[in-house]
Amino acid sequence: MRTLRRSATPRRYLMCPPTYFRVSYSINPWMDPDKPVDLALAHAQWEDLRDRYRALGHTVEELPAHPALPDMVFAANGATVVDGRVLGARFAFAERYGEAAVHAEWYRGHGFDAVREPRHVNEGEGDFAVTASWLLAGRGFRSSPLSHAEAQEYFARPVIGLDLVDPRYYHLDTALCVLDPGGGEPGGGAPGGGGAPGGGGAEVMYFPGAFSAGSRAVLARLFPDALIAGPADATAFGLNAVSDGRHVLLPQAAVGLFEPLRERGYEPIGMDLTELLKGGGSVKCVTGELRLG
Ligand code: ARG
Repeated sequence: MRTLRRSATPRRYLMCPPTYFRVSYSINPWMDPDKPVDLALAHAQWEDLRDRYRALGHTVEELPAHPALPDMVFAANGATVVDGRVLGARFAFAERYGEAAVHAEWYRGHGFDAVREPRHVNEGEGDFAVTASWLLAGRGFRSSPLSHAEAQEYFARPVIGLDLVDPRYYHLDTALCVLDPGGGEPGGGAPGGGGAPGGGGAEVMYFPGAFSAGSRAVLARLFPDALIAGPADATAFGLNAVSDGRHVLLPQAAVGLFEPLRERGYEPIGMDLTELLKGGGSVKCVTGELRLG
């Protein structure tokens, strides 16, 4: 195969350093407070990812960490940004409530005029994935189904609700990754353009085992050519990846995804984020995308 030539588009990301990262409580099956975290190593791994984005030509904004919010390093959860409009987060667990205001404040201070404080629980890009035509939205563990309607109204994009059924894959971004949003533009092309089955030609990879039978059928209908991940790569957090349209940064342990990605014309880049995995997150969880439209 390898006929397709993929092209990267420059992205703007928001990351928060793991300054106060620790696992002092457990709100997902990956978190074990008895397992020590090597904070220096967490820092080095996080910096490696940040520097890699920059070396690829992307902009990385840094949100300062807060000492009382150890999960803040998972910056993808703080908001969803589409066409420059910001839907703030509302967290499911008390341990993370405080992060929402810190994020909203950052956006207000950085030139984002439309910042909505949500009515319903949503954990940002943990459960919202953006294609040119749609918002794919996870529910079942964290984000409320009511947040889906709220997001659809706010972003004026149809929401495809997807039911997560395995507690290890408690956020959509642990089980599905948008490799190419389609529509010709990063996350914001012509809605429905192209008429391809993937809604503007969006491409995704996902782990079917994380979804209900009905949601698996929905994904198969929308994305018949999707890259299907197996359980070993899902457990290695291989779906928790970030794509710029060409480069796909993903946990290096997800070895089974590298060749299928290459066959589709992508360039996989393995990252080592083992310390952050102790909090239940990897590449995508620590990366918020600022889609200016
Ligand atoms: N410890 C965090 C939590 O359970 C990890 C969040 C991971 N973030 C993500 N986008 N999946 O909330």
